This record gives sequence, C-alpha cells and structure tokens, in this order.
Amino acid sequence: MEKIYLVTGATSGIGKATAIELARTGAQVVIGARNAKGGETARDEIRAASGNKNVDTLIGDLSSLASIRKMADAFRAKYAHLNVLINNAGVFKSTRILTADGFELMFATNHLAPFLLTNLLLDLLKTSGTARILNIAAPSSTELNFEDLQSEKAFNALNALGASKMASQLFSFELAHRLEGTGVAVNAIHPGMVRSNIMNDANSFLRLMSSLFSGSPEKAAQAIVRVALGDEYQNKTGLFYSQGKEIKANKYAHDRDVQKRLWDVSEKLVGL
Ligand SMILES: NC(=O)c1ccc[n+]([C@@H]2O[C@H](COP(=O)([O-])OP(=O)(O)OC[C@H]3O[C@@H](n4cnc5c(N)ncnc54)[C@H](OP(=O)(O)O)[C@@H]3O)[C@@H](O)[C@H]2O)c1
Repeated sequence: MEKIYLVTGATSGIGKATAIELARTGAQVVIGARNAKGGETARDEIRAASGNKNVDTLIGDLSSLASIRKMADAFRAKYAHLNVLINNAGVFKSTRILTADGFELMFATNHLAPFLLTNLLLDLLKTSGTARILNIAAPSSTELNFEDLQSEKAFNALNALGASKMASQLFSFELAHRLEGTGVAVNAIHPGMVRSNIMNDANSFLRLMSSLFSGSPEKAAQAIVRVALGDEYQNKTGLFYSQGKEIKANKYAHDRDVQKRLWDVSEKLVGL
C-alpha cells in the first residue's frame, strides 16, 4: 500500500522542512496550506527540493471549524488511508484575536484544529494497519483555566500560547490512551527553538532571543521525521519527544482527569 503522509502548516518553517524530508522518501505527501497560492508555491518548492512529484496541497484555514471539515472531506475524497499525520501548523499572536467561530486564535489553531482534523481522519489512520500521529507542541507548565479557555477575562499572549501547547500535550496523551490496541501511535513533539515565522508578531526582545537561540528548520525536521517513520519508534505512544529523544512532560499534562475534561470540552466546542 502506498505510504501517505499529511503535514499541516507546510508553507514555511518546520512544516515545510518536514514535508521535504518526508517527500525524499518517495511517498505521497500532502501539505496543509492556508490558501491556494501559498500552497502551490510551497508544493513546487517541496517537489523541487525532494525530487518527488507526489506532493499535493490540502487548502484550508485551520482557525475555522467549517474550513477544517472541508479539508477533511477533500482529503477523504482523494485518499483512502493515511499513514502519518503531523499536526504542525501553529500561531503566536501578541494580542487577543477571535476566530470566525468566536474562539481565541491560538487556542483554536494550536489545539482545536488538530483535535478536530485528527478526529475526522481517524478512521483513515486506523485503516493503514499501523499509523502515527505527531502533534508539534512545546514544553509548557501552564495549567488550563477551564473557566476561561478563550482568555475572555484575562489575556496574556505567552500564557495563551503556553496553554495551547499544554492542550496539545493533554490531547496527545489522551488520544494515545484512546487508541491503545488500534495500531495508531500518538506522540507530542517539541521541535526545539527553531528559526521560523512563528514569533514574527512578538516584541523585539522575544524575537531577538528566539533568533539567538534557534536552530535550523531542517535539523528540527530530520528529528521529527525520525519519530514519524523510524522503526525504533514503532509501538512508542503517549510520549513526548525532542530531537528524537524522550523528554519529560510537566506532571499536569499526564493528569487523566484534566485530559478527559479537555477532551469533553473540545468535543463540544468543535461540535463532534
Ligand atoms: N519555531 C520554534 O522555535 C518552535 C518551538 C516550539 C514549537 N513550535 C511549533 O512548531 C510548529 C511550526 O511552527 P514554525 O516555527 O515552523 O512557524 P511558522 O514558520 O510560522 O509556520 C507555521 C505554519 O502554520 C501555518 N498556519 C498558521 N495558522 C494557520 C491557519 N489558520 N490555517 C492554516 N495554516 C496555518 C502557517 O501558514 P501561513 O504561512 O499561511 O501563516 C505556517 O505554514 C508550530 O506548532 C509551533 O508552535 C515552534
């Protein structure tokens, strides 16, 4: 069976570098992109860099639930299975922005989007025999405020980012529990500090710090692809990796009650 890999947010940074690495294996790679123009440009670059023509786009705005549903439908219309899903797309904004659905943008893009897209594609992942889901997260000790998940009462940009990345971990570990015995592994990944567009909206101090301590997207991508495809990661699930090595998540991320609570709330918010 042909290998099919889907990477969201593959128009820049870590996602594009990851798509190139995946395409170098000769598999069918599908790249998520916000719009057709950006998607086609990235697709052509990935094809040229990898020498693999089997790179397709999946267009949609991950901050919109309706758009995510259309993306899942478009994927299903073309592909009957999925071997690897990398939920990579992410955003940082220094101000509180509301999505069309009325959610805070970082919570919507960094957590609700992977939650909904993954759930809508789960049966295709299960059909593959063995499959892997990687959620690109970041270390975080931010505990979720379930009374104010949309930061309506109080907004702090770094706190909202931290909460969204904690949510990625909670989602990954809960999904890993739910998928035990199905052949689908789920892990969270910290890509390390990487030069990309993610902090473009941050203040100059944060931008300087992140540029000083950041590595290349290519190096981060190689480690991600090892976890996505490497035999040594077969059957590894519910873990947190950075640079291919297991790292410790904050204790809160492993709290089963919080994992289940976030799952239930997320289901309601996305209308599953
Ligand atoms: N860079 C780091 O140091 C670092 C550290 C820890 C974790 N991460 C995580 O790594 C992931 C990749 O980020 P990056 O650093 O490579 O940043 P990036 O260069 O800004 O890439 C983010 C990608 O996500 C896409 N995206 C954002 N919002 C979207 C939306 N509403 N719909 C569709 N696509 C959307 C972007 O598309 P557009 O180009 O259209 O905006 C872009 O392709 C993120 O989840 C980030 O939080 C990064």
